[in-house]
Amino acid sequence: MPATQLKRLHPKRPMVKNRSLHAAKATKQDEFYTQLSDIEKEMRHYTGHFKNKTVFSNCDDPNSSHFFHYFSHNFEKLKLKRLITTCYKNCDANSRHVDQRGLYLEYAGDKNNNRVPDPDEIGVHKLKGDGDFRSEECVTLLGGADIVVTNPPFSLFREYVEQLVKYKKKFIIVGSLNAITYNDIFKLIRADKLRLGYGFQSGNAYFAVPEAGDYAKGVYDEVTGLVKFSNVSWFTNIDISKRHEDLILYKTYNSDKYPKYDNYAAIEVARVEDIPCDYDGVMGVPLTFLEKHNPDQFEILGLSGNDDYPMTKKYGKKERVVDGVRMKSNTGTLRAVIRMDSFGAGTHFDVGYPVKGVYRRLFIRRKKG
Ligand SMILES: C[S@@+](CC[C@H](N)C(=O)[O-])C[C@H]1O[C@@H](n2cnc3c(N)ncnc32)[C@H](O)[C@@H]1O
Repeated sequence: MPATQLKRLHPKRPMVKNRSLHAAKATKQDEFYTQLSDIEKEMRHYTGHFKNKTVFSNCDDPNSSHFFHYFSHNFEKLKLKRLITTCYKNCDANSRHVDQRGLYLEYAGDKNNNRVPDPDEIGVHKLKGDGDFRSEECVTLLGGADIVVTNPPFSLFREYVEQLVKYKKKFIIVGSLNAITYNDIFKLIRADKLRLGYGFQSGNAYFAVPEAGDYAKGVYDEVTGLVKFSNVSWFTNIDISKRHEDLILYKTYNSDKYPKYDNYAAIEVARVEDIPCDYDGVMGVPLTFLEKHNPDQFEILGLSGNDDYPMTKKYGKKERVVDGVRMKSNTGTLRAVIRMDSFGAGTHFDVGYPVKGVYRRLFIRRKKG
Protein backbone atom coordinates (compact mmCIF):
# COMPACT_ATOMS: atom_id res chain seq x y z
CA MET A 1 0.00 0.00 0.00
CA PRO A 2 1.44 3.45 -0.86
CA ALA A 3 2.50 5.60 2.09
CA THR A 4 -0.04 8.29 1.19
CA GLN A 5 -2.82 5.78 1.51
CA LEU A 6 -1.48 4.50 4.84
CA LYS A 7 -1.61 8.02 6.21
CA ARG A 8 -5.26 8.06 5.33
CA LEU A 9 -5.72 4.80 7.21
CA HIS A 10 -4.47 6.32 10.42
CA PRO A 11 -6.38 9.52 10.84
CA LYS A 12 -5.08 11.27 13.94
CA ARG A 13 -8.12 13.49 14.16
CA PRO A 14 -11.39 13.78 12.29
CA MET A 15 -10.74 15.17 8.82
CA VAL A 16 -13.48 17.69 9.09
CA LYS A 17 -11.65 20.52 7.41
CA ASN A 18 -11.38 18.62 4.14
CA ARG A 19 -14.50 19.85 2.45
CA SER A 20 -13.89 17.79 -0.65
CA LEU A 21 -13.94 14.66 1.42
CA HIS A 22 -16.67 12.38 0.17
CA ALA A 23 -18.17 15.29 -1.67
CA ALA A 24 -19.91 12.97 -4.07
CA LYS A 25 -21.22 10.67 -1.36
CA ALA A 26 -24.84 9.91 -0.90
CA THR A 27 -27.10 10.78 2.00
CA LYS A 28 -25.55 13.29 4.33
CA GLN A 29 -27.44 12.00 7.31
CA ASP A 30 -25.31 8.85 7.23
CA GLU A 31 -21.99 10.65 7.24
CA PHE A 32 -21.02 10.91 10.92
CA TYR A 33 -17.64 9.64 11.94
CA THR A 34 -16.99 8.12 15.34
CA GLN A 35 -14.13 9.62 17.29
CA LEU A 36 -11.21 7.38 18.23
CA SER A 37 -11.56 8.33 21.91
CA ASP A 38 -15.20 7.15 21.92
CA ILE A 39 -14.23 3.83 20.35
CA GLU A 40 -11.50 3.39 22.96
CA LYS A 41 -13.87 4.20 25.83
CA GLU A 42 -16.47 1.68 24.72
CA MET A 43 -14.12 -1.12 23.67
CA ARG A 44 -12.36 -1.28 27.01
CA HIS A 45 -15.48 -2.95 28.42
CA TYR A 46 -15.24 -5.79 25.90
CA THR A 47 -11.51 -6.59 25.89
CA GLY A 48 -12.06 -10.17 27.09
CA HIS A 49 -14.30 -10.91 24.12
CA PHE A 50 -11.82 -10.35 21.30
CA LYS A 51 -9.30 -13.14 21.89
CA ASN A 52 -8.78 -15.23 18.71
CA LYS A 53 -11.65 -13.45 17.02
CA THR A 54 -12.05 -11.93 13.59
CA VAL A 55 -13.37 -8.39 13.85
CA PHE A 56 -15.27 -6.95 10.91
CA SER A 57 -16.04 -3.26 10.38
CA ASN A 58 -18.24 -3.14 7.30
CA CYS A 59 -19.19 0.53 6.93
CA ASP A 60 -15.76 2.00 7.26
CA ASP A 61 -13.91 4.15 4.82
CA PRO A 62 -10.31 4.22 6.10
CA ASN A 63 -10.19 7.87 5.06
CA SER A 64 -12.58 8.83 7.82
CA SER A 65 -13.25 5.83 10.07
CA HIS A 66 -11.21 5.17 13.21
CA PHE A 67 -12.40 1.60 13.66
CA PHE A 68 -9.64 0.09 11.49
CA HIS A 69 -7.14 2.33 13.27
CA TYR A 70 -8.27 1.26 16.72
CA PHE A 71 -8.30 -2.49 16.03
CA SER A 72 -5.08 -2.60 13.99
CA HIS A 73 -3.17 -0.67 16.64
CA ASN A 74 -4.59 -2.80 19.45
CA PHE A 75 -4.43 -6.06 17.52
CA GLU A 76 -1.85 -7.78 19.74
CA LYS A 77 -3.22 -6.37 22.99
CA LEU A 78 -6.68 -7.72 22.18
CA LYS A 79 -5.16 -10.98 20.84
CA LEU A 80 -7.20 -10.68 17.66
CA LYS A 81 -7.04 -13.29 14.91
CA ARG A 82 -7.91 -11.06 11.97
CA LEU A 83 -9.29 -7.66 11.18
CA ILE A 84 -11.39 -6.94 8.09
CA THR A 85 -12.80 -3.62 6.99
CA THR A 86 -14.97 -2.86 4.02
CA CYS A 87 -15.56 0.57 2.68
CA TYR A 88 -18.61 1.70 0.74
CA LYS A 89 -17.91 3.55 -2.54
CA ASN A 90 -14.35 4.36 -1.63
CA CYS A 91 -12.37 7.51 -2.41
CA ASP A 92 -9.41 6.55 -4.56
CA ALA A 93 -5.75 6.75 -3.53
CA ASN A 94 -5.68 10.48 -4.34
CA SER A 95 -8.42 10.83 -1.72
CA ARG A 96 -10.30 13.08 -4.12
CA HIS A 97 -12.40 11.44 -6.70
CA VAL A 98 -14.89 8.89 -5.59
CA ASP A 99 -14.71 5.35 -6.85
CA GLN A 100 -18.05 3.61 -7.07
CA ARG A 101 -16.38 0.35 -6.13
CA GLY A 102 -15.83 -0.56 -2.53
CA LEU A 103 -12.59 -1.45 -0.83
CA TYR A 104 -11.65 -4.28 1.46
CA LEU A 105 -8.76 -4.14 3.94
CA GLU A 106 -7.37 -6.97 6.00
CA TYR A 107 -4.81 -7.15 8.73
CA ALA A 108 -3.52 -10.21 10.52
CA GLY A 109 -1.13 -8.61 12.98
CA ASP A 110 2.36 -7.22 13.29
CA LYS A 111 4.93 -9.30 11.38
CA ASN A 112 8.16 -7.33 11.95
CA ASN A 113 7.72 -6.69 15.68
CA ASN A 114 7.69 -2.91 15.43
CA ARG A 115 4.23 -2.95 17.08
CA VAL A 116 2.52 -0.87 14.42
CA PRO A 117 0.50 -1.94 11.38
CA ASP A 118 2.84 -1.20 8.47
CA PRO A 119 1.64 -0.61 4.89
CA ASP A 120 2.99 -3.93 3.67
CA GLU A 121 1.20 -5.73 6.48
CA ILE A 122 -2.18 -4.42 5.40
CA GLY A 123 -3.87 -6.08 2.47
CA VAL A 124 -5.91 -3.69 0.34
CA HIS A 125 -8.27 -5.11 -2.28
CA LYS A 126 -10.88 -3.64 -4.55
CA LEU A 127 -14.33 -5.14 -4.19
CA LYS A 128 -16.28 -6.09 -7.28
CA GLY A 129 -19.26 -4.04 -6.18
CA ASP A 130 -19.77 -0.86 -4.19
CA GLY A 131 -19.15 -2.41 -0.76
CA ASP A 132 -22.77 -2.30 0.36
CA PHE A 133 -22.93 -4.32 3.57
CA ARG A 134 -25.81 -6.31 2.01
CA SER A 135 -23.90 -7.26 -1.14
CA GLU A 136 -22.97 -10.88 -1.72
CA GLU A 137 -19.23 -10.35 -1.33
CA CYS A 138 -19.66 -8.36 1.91
CA VAL A 139 -22.05 -10.98 3.27
CA THR A 140 -19.42 -13.64 2.48
CA LEU A 141 -16.88 -11.64 4.49
CA LEU A 142 -19.44 -11.29 7.27
CA GLY A 143 -19.78 -15.07 7.29
CA GLY A 144 -16.10 -15.41 8.22
CA ALA A 145 -16.24 -12.80 11.00
CA ASP A 146 -16.91 -13.30 14.71
CA ILE A 147 -17.63 -9.77 15.95
CA VAL A 148 -18.88 -6.82 13.94
CA VAL A 149 -17.89 -3.43 15.32
CA THR A 150 -18.81 -0.19 13.61
CA ASN A 151 -21.11 2.78 13.35
CA PRO A 152 -23.44 1.80 10.48
CA PRO A 153 -25.62 4.19 8.45
CA PHE A 154 -28.39 5.43 10.74
CA SER A 155 -30.89 5.26 7.89
CA LEU A 156 -30.29 1.52 7.42
CA PHE A 157 -30.01 0.56 11.10
CA ARG A 158 -33.00 -1.77 11.15
CA GLU A 159 -31.83 -3.69 8.09
CA TYR A 160 -28.28 -3.70 9.38
CA VAL A 161 -29.25 -5.32 12.69
CA GLU A 162 -31.55 -7.77 10.94
CA GLN A 163 -28.62 -9.01 8.87
CA LEU A 164 -26.38 -9.42 11.92
CA VAL A 165 -29.07 -11.41 13.69
CA LYS A 166 -29.72 -13.54 10.60
CA TYR A 167 -26.03 -14.48 10.39
CA LYS A 168 -25.81 -14.98 14.18
CA LYS A 169 -22.98 -12.50 14.66
CA LYS A 170 -21.83 -10.81 17.83
CA PHE A 171 -21.78 -7.06 17.44
CA ILE A 172 -20.98 -3.71 19.04
CA ILE A 173 -22.47 -0.92 16.97
CA VAL A 174 -23.51 2.72 17.26
CA GLY A 175 -27.13 3.68 16.65
CA SER A 176 -29.79 6.22 17.44
CA LEU A 177 -31.81 5.62 20.60
CA ASN A 178 -34.90 6.23 18.46
CA ALA A 179 -34.28 2.75 17.05
CA ILE A 180 -35.50 1.29 20.36
CA THR A 181 -39.03 2.17 19.32
CA TYR A 182 -38.84 0.30 16.00
CA ASN A 183 -40.94 -2.84 16.40
CA ASP A 184 -38.32 -5.35 15.31
CA ILE A 185 -35.51 -3.68 17.29
CA PHE A 186 -37.71 -3.48 20.38
CA LYS A 187 -38.56 -7.19 20.10
CA LEU A 188 -34.84 -8.02 20.25
CA ILE A 189 -34.42 -5.80 23.31
CA ARG A 190 -37.38 -7.36 25.06
CA ALA A 191 -36.00 -10.83 24.35
CA ASP A 192 -32.60 -9.77 25.74
CA LYS A 193 -30.96 -10.30 22.34
CA LEU A 194 -29.95 -6.67 22.04
CA ARG A 195 -28.87 -4.32 24.81
CA LEU A 196 -27.40 -0.88 25.23
CA GLY A 197 -23.66 -0.68 25.63
CA TYR A 198 -21.88 1.75 27.91
CA GLY A 199 -22.72 4.77 25.81
CA PHE A 200 -21.10 8.12 25.34
CA GLN A 201 -19.94 10.38 28.13
CA SER A 202 -22.71 12.47 29.75
CA GLY A 203 -25.18 11.09 27.22
CA ASN A 204 -23.81 13.30 24.44
CA ALA A 205 -22.10 11.88 21.39
CA TYR A 206 -19.87 14.06 19.20
CA PHE A 207 -19.16 12.99 15.62
CA ALA A 208 -16.99 14.41 12.88
CA VAL A 209 -18.79 15.39 9.69
CA PRO A 210 -17.27 15.83 6.23
CA GLU A 211 -18.44 19.42 5.95
CA ALA A 212 -20.40 22.04 7.84
CA GLY A 213 -24.05 21.34 7.16
CA ASP A 214 -27.42 22.78 7.81
CA TYR A 215 -27.71 21.86 11.48
CA ALA A 216 -30.00 23.20 14.19
CA LYS A 217 -28.43 25.77 16.51
CA GLY A 218 -25.95 24.26 18.95
CA VAL A 219 -25.54 21.01 16.99
CA TYR A 220 -22.49 21.88 14.87
CA ASP A 221 -19.37 23.33 16.50
CA GLU A 222 -17.29 25.29 14.01
CA VAL A 223 -14.16 25.14 16.14
CA THR A 224 -14.05 21.38 16.59
CA GLY A 225 -15.95 20.56 13.41
CA LEU A 226 -18.02 18.08 15.41
CA VAL A 227 -21.78 17.61 15.60
CA LYS A 228 -23.49 16.78 18.87
CA PHE A 229 -26.23 14.20 19.31
CA SER A 230 -27.86 13.47 22.62
CA ASN A 231 -29.79 10.38 21.52
CA VAL A 232 -27.09 8.04 20.32
CA SER A 233 -25.75 4.95 22.04
CA TRP A 234 -23.84 1.75 21.53
CA PHE A 235 -25.90 -1.39 20.96
CA THR A 236 -24.56 -4.89 21.54
CA ASN A 237 -25.55 -8.51 21.96
CA ILE A 238 -22.39 -9.31 23.92
CA ASP A 239 -22.84 -10.35 27.52
CA ILE A 240 -21.36 -7.26 29.14
CA SER A 241 -20.90 -7.11 32.91
CA LYS A 242 -23.22 -4.16 33.54
CA ARG A 243 -26.09 -6.35 32.35
CA HIS A 244 -25.65 -8.34 35.56
CA GLU A 245 -25.56 -5.35 37.90
CA ASP A 246 -28.74 -4.56 39.82
CA LEU A 247 -30.14 -1.08 39.66
CA ILE A 248 -30.02 0.23 43.25
CA LEU A 249 -33.41 1.58 44.25
CA TYR A 250 -34.07 3.98 47.12
CA LYS A 251 -37.62 5.25 46.68
CA THR A 252 -40.76 3.70 48.17
CA TYR A 253 -44.14 3.52 46.51
CA ASN A 254 -47.05 5.78 47.37
CA SER A 255 -50.11 6.25 45.20
CA ASP A 256 -49.92 10.07 45.12
CA LYS A 257 -46.40 10.20 43.80
CA TYR A 258 -46.88 7.37 41.27
CA PRO A 259 -50.22 7.90 39.50
CA LYS A 260 -51.86 5.11 37.49
CA TYR A 261 -52.21 5.66 33.75
CA ASP A 262 -55.73 6.14 32.51
CA ASN A 263 -55.19 3.81 29.55
CA TYR A 264 -52.57 1.26 30.68
CA ALA A 265 -52.48 -1.05 33.68
CA ALA A 266 -49.31 0.47 35.12
CA ILE A 267 -48.04 3.32 37.27
CA GLU A 268 -46.07 6.28 35.95
CA VAL A 269 -42.43 6.54 37.05
CA ALA A 270 -41.09 9.74 35.53
CA ARG A 271 -37.39 9.16 36.27
CA VAL A 272 -35.36 5.94 36.37
CA GLU A 273 -33.92 6.88 39.77
CA ASP A 274 -37.49 7.08 41.13
CA ILE A 275 -38.36 3.42 40.45
CA PRO A 276 -39.79 2.29 43.79
CA CYS A 277 -38.05 -0.62 45.51
CA ASP A 278 -41.31 -2.03 46.92
CA TYR A 279 -43.71 -2.09 43.95
CA ASP A 280 -44.38 -5.45 42.29
CA GLY A 281 -46.85 -4.32 39.63
CA VAL A 282 -46.17 -2.92 36.17
CA MET A 283 -44.39 0.44 35.90
CA GLY A 284 -43.98 2.82 32.97
CA VAL A 285 -40.40 4.14 32.92
CA PRO A 286 -38.37 6.36 30.53
CA LEU A 287 -36.47 4.61 27.72
CA THR A 288 -33.17 5.55 29.41
CA PHE A 289 -33.96 2.71 31.81
CA LEU A 290 -32.36 0.42 29.21
CA GLU A 291 -28.95 1.87 30.05
CA LYS A 292 -29.31 0.29 33.50
CA HIS A 293 -31.35 -2.79 32.66
CA ASN A 294 -30.47 -6.10 34.28
CA PRO A 295 -32.82 -8.78 32.87
CA ASP A 296 -32.51 -10.78 36.10
CA GLN A 297 -33.97 -7.83 38.03
CA PHE A 298 -36.78 -6.63 35.74
CA GLU A 299 -38.70 -8.02 32.81
CA ILE A 300 -39.68 -5.78 29.93
CA LEU A 301 -43.31 -6.17 28.92
CA GLY A 302 -43.78 -3.58 26.21
CA LEU A 303 -43.58 -0.03 25.02
CA SER A 304 -46.33 2.57 25.11
CA GLY A 305 -47.82 2.87 21.64
CA ASN A 306 -46.80 -0.68 20.63
CA ASP A 307 -49.11 -3.67 20.89
CA ASP A 308 -47.04 -5.95 23.15
CA TYR A 309 -48.50 -4.48 26.31
CA PRO A 310 -52.03 -3.51 25.29
CA MET A 311 -53.98 -0.42 26.24
CA THR A 312 -56.84 -0.97 28.64
CA LYS A 313 -58.84 1.82 27.06
CA LYS A 314 -59.10 3.53 23.67
CA TYR A 315 -60.62 6.98 23.36
CA GLY A 316 -63.40 7.63 20.89
CA LYS A 317 -62.73 11.32 20.36
CA LYS A 318 -60.26 13.72 21.77
CA GLU A 319 -59.64 17.44 21.72
CA ARG A 320 -56.36 19.20 22.44
CA VAL A 321 -56.39 21.86 25.12
CA VAL A 322 -53.29 24.05 25.24
CA ASP A 323 -53.05 26.40 28.23
CA GLY A 324 -56.82 26.17 28.55
CA VAL A 325 -57.47 26.93 24.84
CA ARG A 326 -59.26 24.24 22.83
CA MET A 327 -57.91 23.28 19.43
CA LYS A 328 -58.27 20.45 16.93
CA SER A 329 -56.02 17.51 17.80
CA ASN A 330 -53.77 16.27 15.03
CA THR A 331 -52.03 13.87 17.43
CA GLY A 332 -52.69 10.25 16.39
CA THR A 333 -53.56 7.63 18.96
CA LEU A 334 -52.64 8.84 22.42
CA ARG A 335 -49.87 6.89 24.14
CA ALA A 336 -49.75 6.60 27.95
CA VAL A 337 -51.84 9.30 29.61
CA ILE A 338 -52.66 10.28 33.18
CA ARG A 339 -56.09 11.49 34.24
CA MET A 340 -56.01 15.04 35.65
CA ASP A 341 -58.41 17.01 37.85
CA SER A 342 -58.52 19.95 35.43
CA PHE A 343 -57.00 21.41 32.26
CA GLY A 344 -54.01 23.29 33.60
CA ALA A 345 -51.04 24.91 31.89
CA GLY A 346 -49.41 23.08 28.97
CA THR A 347 -50.92 20.53 26.62
CA HIS A 348 -53.81 18.40 27.83
CA PHE A 349 -56.42 16.34 25.99
CA ASP A 350 -60.14 16.24 26.54
CA VAL A 351 -61.30 12.63 26.21
CA GLY A 352 -64.50 13.36 28.11
CA TYR A 353 -62.29 14.43 31.02
CA PRO A 354 -58.79 15.96 31.17
CA VAL A 355 -55.75 13.74 30.54
CA LYS A 356 -52.08 14.57 30.07
CA GLY A 357 -49.68 12.54 27.92
CA VAL A 358 -46.24 11.41 29.03
CA TYR A 359 -43.17 10.61 26.91
CA ARG A 360 -42.75 7.16 25.40
CA ARG A 361 -42.61 4.65 28.24
CA LEU A 362 -41.24 1.14 28.70
CA PHE A 363 -43.42 -1.15 30.77
CA ILE A 364 -41.39 -3.17 33.23
CA ARG A 365 -42.07 -5.45 36.18
CA ARG A 366 -39.77 -6.63 38.93
CA LYS A 367 -38.79 -10.29 38.68
CA LYS A 368 -39.69 -12.47 41.62
CA GLY A 369 -37.04 -13.49 44.07
C1 LIG B 1 -22.62 6.88 10.44
S1 LIG B 1 -21.35 6.69 9.21
C2 LIG B 1 -20.07 6.00 10.18
C3 LIG B 1 -18.81 5.79 9.46
C4 LIG B 1 -17.79 4.99 10.28
N1 LIG B 1 -18.28 3.66 10.56
C5 LIG B 1 -17.47 5.71 11.55
O1 LIG B 1 -17.98 5.34 12.58
O2 LIG B 1 -16.68 6.66 11.52
C6 LIG B 1 -21.98 5.34 8.26
C7 LIG B 1 -21.14 5.01 7.04
O3 LIG B 1 -21.77 3.95 6.31
C8 LIG B 1 -21.58 4.19 4.92
N2 LIG B 1 -22.67 3.52 4.20
C9 LIG B 1 -23.83 4.07 3.74
N3 LIG B 1 -24.58 3.14 3.14
C10 LIG B 1 -23.87 1.97 3.22
C11 LIG B 1 -24.13 0.65 2.78
N4 LIG B 1 -25.25 0.35 2.12
N5 LIG B 1 -23.19 -0.31 3.02
C12 LIG B 1 -22.06 0.00 3.69
N6 LIG B 1 -21.77 1.24 4.14
C13 LIG B 1 -22.66 2.22 3.91
C14 LIG B 1 -21.63 5.69 4.78
O4 LIG B 1 -20.94 6.10 3.64
C15 LIG B 1 -20.99 6.17 6.09
O5 LIG B 1 -19.64 6.46 5.92
